[in-house]
Amino acid sequence: MKVVIAYYSASGNTEAMAEEISRGATEAGAEVTLVNVNETSADEVAEFDVIALGCASYGDEVLEEYEFQPFYDELEPMLEGKKVALFGSYDWGNGEWMLDWQEAVSAAGAELVGGEGLIANLFPDADALEKCHALGEKLAN
Ligand SMILES: Cc1cc2nc3c(=O)[nH]c(=O)nc-3n(C[C@H](O)[C@H](O)[C@H](O)COP(=O)(O)O)c2cc1C
Repeated sequence: MKVVIAYYSASGNTEAMAEEISRGATEAGAEVTLVNVNETSADEVAEFDVIALGCASYGDEVLEEYEFQPFYDELEPMLEGKKVALFGSYDWGNGEWMLDWQEAVSAAGAELVGGEGLIANLFPDADALEKCHALGEKLAN
């Protein structure tokens, strides 16, 4: 199974989640492409059938608006029929950005892997990393 994990991370918190998802998927036998959104394009990511997208909560409970949001806006119309996992870190909020994002992905016709996005408060703790690892395994199967 070929899996792409594309993420934005300003201070490394969502990146740590991405790396653990990558380890879980790789150990479960997937061929993983792990990329920062500034090193890829929506077209490249859309070539995969299994896509994990990571972005923390920014602005006021929204995706980061200068790099990630434009990338996602271009990708969204190409998500129909794909398996998509969402993940990201947050700090003081209530996770609203992820609920909105889940809705958008489902409305685009994607299958949301795990049924909901995976969120971690700031740098993922051991429990969050375990969930990331398990999400990676799910992506591989
Ligand atoms: C400009 C800015 C806006 C933010 N807005 C929110 C927010 O609305 N809700 C929230 O829970 N966290 C917010 N945060 C906290 C980030 O989501 C948190 O620091 C996260 O761990 C950053 O992840 P990253 O290192 O992967 O970019 C904000 C942080 C910054 C710098």
